[in-house]
Amino acid sequence: MAIAAANAVVIPEPTAAPARAQVRSPVITPAAIRFDGHYSYLNEKRNFVDDIISGADNVLHSLGSVLGTDLPSYIVSGIPNYFQDFPIGDDVKSSLGIDDDQLDAAPTEVLNIPPYANWTKEGWNVRFHGNVYKTPNISQDKVDDLANIFLIDTEVAELPPEGKEQARNLTRSIFIVQQGDQNVTMHLEPAPMQGGDGEPGGGNAITPSGGSQTVNLPHLTTDQGDFDVFVPIRNVSDGGLLAGNETNNVQRLNVYTNGTLTGNATAFLVPPTGLTFISDIDDILRVTKIYDPKEGLLNSFARPFVPWMNMPEIYANWSRTLPTDTHFHYLTTTPEQATRVYMDFIYKRYPGGSFDTRPLNFSDVDATLSIRQFLLTKIFQTFPQRRFVLVADTSNSDVMKDYPQLAHDYPDQVACIFLRNTSATDPSDKFPYDTSGFEGLNNRSYMFFKVPDDLRGLDIVNGQCLNQSIPQNVTFGIQDEVLGIHGAAAKLSSSATMSFVVALVATMFLIL
Ligand SMILES: *[C@@H]1O[C@H](CO)[C@@H](O)[C@H](O)[C@H]1NC(C)=O
Ligand SMILES: *[C@@H]1O[C@H](CO)[C@@H](O)[C@H](O)[C@H]1NC(C)=O
Ligand SMILES: *[C@@H]1O[C@H](CO)[C@@H](O)[C@H](O)[C@H]1NC(C)=O
Ligand SMILES: *[C@@H]1O[C@H](CO)[C@@H](O)[C@H](O)[C@H]1NC(C)=O
Ligand SMILES: *[C@@H]1O[C@H](CO)[C@@H](O)[C@H](O)[C@H]1NC(C)=O
Ligand SMILES: *[C@@H]1O[C@H](CO)[C@@H](O)[C@H](O)[C@H]1NC(C)=O
Ligand SMILES: *[C@@H]1O[C@H](CO)[C@@H](O)[C@H](O)[C@H]1NC(C)=O
Ligand SMILES: *[C@@H]1O[C@H](CO)[C@@H](O)[C@H](O)[C@H]1NC(C)=O
Ligand SMILES: *[C@@H]1O[C@H](CO)[C@@H](O)[C@H](O)[C@H]1NC(C)=O
Ligand SMILES: *[C@@H]1O[C@H](CO)[C@@H](O)[C@H](O)[C@H]1NC(C)=O
Ligand SMILES: *[C@@H]1O[C@H](CO)[C@@H](O)[C@H](O)[C@H]1NC(C)=O
Ligand SMILES: *[C@@H]1O[C@H](CO)[C@@H](O)[C@H](O)[C@H]1NC(C)=O
Repeated sequence: MAIAAANAVVIPEPTAAPARAQVRSPVITPAAIRFDGHYSYLNEKRNFVDDIISGADNVLHSLGSVLGTDLPSYIVSGIPNYFQDFPIGDDVKSSLGIDDDQLDAAPTEVLNIPPYANWTKEGWNVRFHGNVYKTPNISQDKVDDLANIFLIDTEVAELPPEGKEQARNLTRSIFIVQQGDQNVTMHLEPAPMQGGDGEPGGGNAITPSGGSQTVNLPHLTTDQGDFDVFVPIRNVSDGGLLAGNETNNVQRLNVYTNGTLTGNATAFLVPPTGLTFISDIDDILRVTKIYDPKEGLLNSFARPFVPWMNMPEIYANWSRTLPTDTHFHYLTTTPEQATRVYMDFIYKRYPGGSFDTRPLNFSDVDATLSIRQFLLTKIFQTFPQRRFVLVADTSNSDVMKDYPQLAHDYPDQVACIFLRNTSATDPSDKFPYDTSGFEGLNNRSYMFFKVPDDLRGLDIVNGQCLNQSIPQNVTFGIQDEVLGIHGAAAKLSSSATMSFVVALVATMFLIL
């Protein structure tokens, strides 16, 4: 049925989608919801279908390009496009009509993203990263006007109280003015049971008996207010920090930014060996529905975040039962401005752990596509002897490329890859994904699963990544549920190829 419907669709004029989207952005530029024509196969790829048909001897390759630059960037990057192109710095000032005097009066705030630290010859080496900014004093009415831009078919006034709070929180966190050339100083001290940023226990971390000290970051913040630097910390005279080669525990320090009460974080001193879970968040730890833009927007802006099924229970069990050197790291490519909302959600439901989001210098579309790989490579290189469990879902094509690539590049470091097969449980996920990266990997080192319970009972430490009761039938190549393509694209006739492309186009218009 899907194919028949798709075949009936005439490929529309290239302007159709952008025109609709731009209506929604009267207040700020760039648009909050934008079909990026530059990355649309409707626009520059006028001859795209012809190209595929004439290149029929290499159809697989051509279809691969459908998942490359031809799709809207938010599908490719796994970042919803409403999380693309947030205004920063002067754009915020001018869109809000605020002047320097007003801003000077606002206090300086610091987003201090929970760091990890590795053990080196110089001692513990902590990766401090985050952003320095000011929050303009804008009225609630204005905040609501701004929030309304992100809402489809509803507005803040119509939301229930917790929806209003979510919309206002996230919107306020976007309309901030980043502060460049700032000198940042951190104070560290042992973290008791709960971290200074409200992080729960879990992740097996212990409280060292000392280690209090003040650290001055060696560089000023970038023009965009960011800092991201490894700094060795001292084993101060009370000798309270355990050396990385004499403990199997993750140690936990609180990090307070001097001069503000907003810059609290918990740092994790991670021993050189052991397991690190690296987990994406959208559609694996929380329900987002990135692939369904309207729902994705509502689930981000209009509703408090909710966990995906009983995933918190699975993580809680891992955190309780795995060896003490286990470390949890949350790595999402959501933009830095949304970090607090994501952290708040995670730390109320999942084990404590370090965090990564997309820094501001990765905001342009090309850089957006490489951010996950950049952040993953950084943590792999920081812990060359640790083994990693990579967790995410099939709806992000950067995950589908980067996770198996890491297993090829660092075969001794990837313990397991767990991917939620999103389209198996959510029929609204109509986007194709590409499994070719998994070809050649040990087929017992990864699992495509449907529900969190599929992850129960695995002996991960001893290398068990596969639940025997979850049948795996992975073919390598493009997977598309709409057309029933499972890596067999190379065998498609050109008319089937045509259907595939048209179905994609049709899907885009159905959901926009
Ligand atoms: C731990 O590492 C330090 C610094 O590299 C070294 O001096 C010390 O001998 C090591 N201790 C053990 C038990 O290996
Ligand atoms: C924010 O602006 C309002 C209205 O101009 C003013 O009443 C309030 O005191 C200001 N708040 C701060 C924290 O400056
Ligand atoms: C909104 O922000 C406040 C303070 O930053 C926080 O306590 C509250 O939990 C947030 N609410 C939501 C729904 O994120
Ligand atoms: C930050 O300020 C401290 C104390 O004033 C100074 O010693 C340090 O050099 C400054 N750091 C940078 C990167 O300018
Ligand atoms: C810190 O000093 C104590 C006492 O000298 C020592 O036992 C411990 O290994 C040192 N820790 C680090 C991180 O160097
Ligand atoms: C940060 O920590 C300080 C010191 O414990 C505390 O007073 C402050 O309320 C904390 N800030 C937040 C946002 O929790
Ligand atoms: C962003 O800055 C980091 C250093 O903080 C640098 O390593 C990275 O290459 C930069 N990325 C881009 C896309 O400019
Ligand atoms: C610690 O991390 C830094 C930064 O990623 C890396 O250059 C260094 O090699 C790591 N040290 C060890 C001993 O793994
Ligand atoms: C995902 O689930 C769908 C529907 O059950 C199935 O057709 C597809 O092959 C699965 N994908 C993978 C990679 O296992
Ligand atoms: C892994 O590959 C082997 C050899 O091709 C095959 O016999 C086995 O069924 C595969 N296992 C899974 C879980 O796909
Ligand atoms: C909890 O985790 C442990 C260790 O990974 C595993 O052996 C056990 O089966 C898990 N329990 C459940 C209910 O998943
Ligand atoms: C495995 O997938 C292929 C291709 O999609 C399909 O033809 C076959 O029936 C599937 N086998 C099982 C046991 O599900």
